[in-house]
Amino acid sequence: MNTRNKSSRVGPLASKAETGPALDIDALLDDPGTSIVVCCGSGGVGKTTTSAALALRAAERGRKVVVLTIDPARRLAQAMGIETLDNTPRPVPGVDPDARGSLDAMMLDMKRTFDEVVESQASPEKAAQILANPFYVALSSSFAGTQEYMAMEKLGQLHKDALASGRWDLIVVDTPPSRSALDFLDAPERLSSFLDGRFIRLLLAPAKGPARLMTAGLGVVTNALTKVLGAQVLRDMQTFVAAFDTLFGGFRQRAQKTFELLQAEETAFLVVAAPEPDALREAAFFVERLGAEQMPLAGLVVNRASRLSLSGLSGEQALAAAERLGPGSTTSAPAGLTAGLLRLHADRTRLVARERRLRRRFVTAHPRVPTAVVPALSTDVHDLDGLRLVGQLLAG
Ligand SMILES: Nc1ncnc2c1ncn2[C@@H]1O[C@H](COP(=O)(O)OP(=O)(O)OP(=O)(O)O)[C@@H](O)[C@H]1O
Ligand SMILES: [Mg+2]
Repeated sequence: MNTRNKSSRVGPLASKAETGPALDIDALLDDPGTSIVVCCGSGGVGKTTTSAALALRAAERGRKVVVLTIDPARRLAQAMGIETLDNTPRPVPGVDPDARGSLDAMMLDMKRTFDEVVESQASPEKAAQILANPFYVALSSSFAGTQEYMAMEKLGQLHKDALASGRWDLIVVDTPPSRSALDFLDAPERLSSFLDGRFIRLLLAPAKGPARLMTAGLGVVTNALTKVLGAQVLRDMQTFVAAFDTLFGGFRQRAQKTFELLQAEETAFLVVAAPEPDALREAAFFVERLGAEQMPLAGLVVNRASRLSLSGLSGEQALAAAERLGPGSTTSAPAGLTAGLLRLHADRTRLVARERRLRRRFVTAHPRVPTAVVPALSTDVHDLDGLRLVGQLLAG
């Protein structure tokens, strides 16, 4: 496994064998050699929150940061000043200026990013033709995988801008709300293969007409498709594929370049997971995949972990005490309340123990992956103060 700069990532307070080494977030953010941080993980685990919190923390420690968010919750977007979907990074209001860092944020506009790529790759007439095609419109706004592809594309663009303008020295990337964390790495390839695929080649073939022998067979296929899809749809599809075909090499190359960027030393992947079996299993797959792709893993963030407010009282003690309050607990209000709280504490203790077991299982399989644990807060994270708090918790 390719755990990035192991020595500098592991904090001095690291760690019991049971929990694995501690992830030193501040060392990661302060390292001028870190210029891209990618937050991955399965749906709903806290990728957007973690990205925004890391970006803010880095900016308030002096880095010049841009964060690329994907579909942030409305209130968080408001707080960060990125409500308008215009695909342009804008300064986030309210960042502490003392450390002389800066924070710009943007929200990915998938269709706009796709349009910009087409415009940059094709002549104006050809671009206009593609942009107006109904297949393009469908592909650019809803095809599964387009969001992942465009997130990578935007990362490539931001990296180029950062190098050219010197405006940013750290790019923090949130990833789309896919079911599986692996989609971020797989979807661009899947989209490429679709666009490059045999079905599409088949449709395109009559326009190119290489083999006469094939023509009769293709005629049958085309006729069948015409029946199913209608002549206009098929014509649109063929025009789209023919127009897109010349761009295609460019697309593949760009995706390839971004993939290489993700493998670079300057990049750090953080895998975010909830302390639940599915999310941790997904995180384990992802960690293995990063290793196979030689992509630099910085560590695991276990987000929304349960905590105990009364750490001296075991679950059994709490239950026994609740029992002792006995039948009276249902008749006398204060005793009933106390018994209820004790039972709640016992439940929480069980939950914490279960999460600990799940984490131990992860550590056994991946003992060298540095980990940060962020407890579940009592409210959603929807403003800069909330992000600051998550940043502090991430940093331990
Ligand atoms: N540690 C935490 N404590 C409390 N609430 C949290 C915490 N982390 C995240 N949340 C909340 O959980 C919700 C989901 O978080 P977030 O949007 O960051 O997840 P995500 O992984 O980006 O989701 P998606 O896969 O849909 O993009 C948000 O409302 C956020 O405020
Ligand atoms: Mg998100």
